[in-house]
Amino acid sequence: MIVCKTKKELSEALRAGRNGKSVGFVPTMGALHAGHASLFERARAENDLFVASVFVNPIQFNNPDDLKNYPRHFEADSELLRENGCDIVFAPSEEEMYPKGEAVKSYSFGTLETVMEGARRPGHFKGVGVVVGLLFELVEPDRAYFGEKDFQQVAIIQDLVRQMGIKTQIVPCPIKRADDGLALSSRNALLKPEDRAKAPYIHATLKKSTEMAEKSCREIKEWVERRITAVPEMKLEYFEIARPHDLQPLRPDAAAKGNVGFIAVWMGNVRLIDNIRY
Ligand code: PAJ
Repeated sequence: MIVCKTKKELSEALRAGRNGKSVGFVPTMGALHAGHASLFERARAENDLFVASVFVNPIQFNNPDDLKNYPRHFEADSELLRENGCDIVFAPSEEEMYPKGEAVKSYSFGTLETVMEGARRPGHFKGVGVVVGLLFELVEPDRAYFGEKDFQQVAIIQDLVRQMGIKTQIVPCPIKRADDGLALSSRNALLKPEDRAKAPYIHATLKKSTEMAEKSCREIKEWVERRITAVPEMKLEYFEIARPHDLQPLRPDAAAKGNVGFIAVWMGNVRLIDNIRY
């Protein structure tokens, strides 16, 4: 595995390694876990060359404490990447990624970025668009792998690819969960043990709510909101049911079936997100 710290090293490693081979790419912010590894396995299996990036992208954090507390373990990350057969990892510094005084290309995502995560985390998807746009220009992947844990991010990236006019195929990958159902996330490590023990209740509630799929969005919403707000350790930020293709919310009397439920919950100062298909 070649570790590249600079864009120049990356383009040299790609030039030497590519030779007409297919390139699969998985961008990450590190603190890697089995959720990331599920993307690595796909990228490894479906491409000749498997490239990953590890970069905690400051411009996608709308909360300075979240950025400061974000877990960073590059040694363990490179070990996991090596075990997963990664050929090239790009791990730039902030200065390398965003040289002072150099303008970045920015994208707008219309109503995709004004709902749910976009509404609650101003600037977040703009920052994701900038960094993934830059990474796609550098890596020029044939396929890029993204987790449905961040369902809205997948839609944003699909739109980004359209706007950039590139041929990269976006491969959405299913949510990987702990045995108790909690969606794996780098932020889970920041939960207090007693909160970690209760956190699987989020997925359990969403899963149970799929039994109501034929019912109206209003009924499901009220039911989920009631269950989550009854847990003292949980602070519900939102639960919404939206259309999978454009993420726009449904009328309250529409049936949930065929749509996706999206949730964000605070436990202490940790923000957890999850989603489920109806
Ligand atoms: P990060 O949170 O590190 O996630 C990297 C990729 O792993 C994303 O596509 C995310 O959806 C996926 N992932 C995380 N947890 C997962 C799980 N439990 N199951 C399946 N996939 C999972 O998402 C980002 O980084 C950044 O926004 C990034 C795209 C790298 C841009 O900075």
